[in-house]
Amino acid sequence: MQVSYNFDEVVDRRDTGSLKWHYSDDTIPLWVADMDFKAAPPILNAIEQAVQHGILGYTKPTKALYDAIINWHGSRYDLALNQENILFSPGVVPSLALMMNVFTDIGDAVLVNAPIYTPFMSKVEQNGRTLITSSLQESEDKYRLNLVDIEAKIIEHNVKLYLLCNPHNPGGRVWTPDELNALLTICKKHDVAIVSDEIHQDLTLSGHTFTPFLTLAAGYEHKVVSLTSMTKTFNIAGIKGSMIFAKDAALIQKISQQQQLNDEYELNLFAYTAMRSAYSEGSEWLSQALEYIEGNINLTMQYFAEHLPKIKVMRPEASYLIWLDCAAYSQDDQQLYNALRAARVELNAGIKYGEEGHSKMRLNVACPRAVLVEGLNRIHHAFSTI
Ligand SMILES: Cc1ncc(COP(=O)(O)O)c(C=O)c1O
Repeated sequence: MQVSYNFDEVVDRRDTGSLKWHYSDDTIPLWVADMDFKAAPPILNAIEQAVQHGILGYTKPTKALYDAIINWHGSRYDLALNQENILFSPGVVPSLALMMNVFTDIGDAVLVNAPIYTPFMSKVEQNGRTLITSSLQESEDKYRLNLVDIEAKIIEHNVKLYLLCNPHNPGGRVWTPDELNALLTICKKHDVAIVSDEIHQDLTLSGHTFTPFLTLAAGYEHKVVSLTSMTKTFNIAGIKGSMIFAKDAALIQKISQQQQLNDEYELNLFAYTAMRSAYSEGSEWLSQALEYIEGNINLTMQYFAEHLPKIKVMRPEASYLIWLDCAAYSQDDQQLYNALRAARVELNAGIKYGEEGHSKMRLNVACPRAVLVEGLNRIHHAFSTI
């Protein structure tokens, strides 16, 4: 029997240690990337069973876990993995930082496309590498890679590592095989390693097809790693836990050795339990969640067209984050942020994603529709005060 999940349910997240809901007033948080939906019941049941069992000891990945990961990625994305291709990590961001030591030395140049999810920039700089950015170009309401600029920067700065975000946060692009192959050709030509953060992969929306970078990397697998997780997909980000995929045995060994240095290769019991259950029993919840999210995206697009047509809205191809260009209202990033906060709604300031995010805001629409509508009304009010 098909179960129908209720994404309209409003769950009070205050005083739960939630990063998103940290306010002492009734502010609506439409910022950090987690969803205000309860996680899939099969995952919650699996965690409950682990608690009921009563012993929460150390974990070791089992064949059942590997099989669940391998089947999910093989059946959805044609990504052929075996157990030896998979390592575990506490998170995708910790893995991004780890990759600095796998592929580069202190001072080496690392390239990212801005605007970009903030840790892509901060982890490079905090780890003593040189951050090089190539601005994405906007055409037909989408971001595009500037391949000429990317190659020129690689040559000019002797770039050693390229950090790709696919699907892209904050722009929502799902890069096409043509775009990815063009990037691969450039990186191969200049011997640049590629780390692809694919954490938003499962949130690809209708009409778009996600391509794992590793499916294109034959012949260059010693220089390609992908990072992903079940946490974004199934709204269990607080659990922490992720995967590292690489298809070259020597590369996997090198990554594993780096992980041993800080003993950062184990999954906590809840991450193990959630990951296994998510990839074996979560697909129905995910397809219903995506349908709901798509409904929220449509509603938001219509709302802006009707009430705030001067804001340019970038429709995402994946995930629930909508990139808003508010330049028609203000060139002052702090003023934009403050006006929204004064209207008791919080969005991410685009400027945090690089200079390219000037006058932009990032809106998270993964919440019950009633909450979204109230949030949009507050955004509307905020812009009437600027
Ligand atoms: C592109 C991207 N990578 C990584 C993360 C966070 O990953 P983790 O919580 O596994 O460190 C996010 C969260 O929003 C993200 O958008």
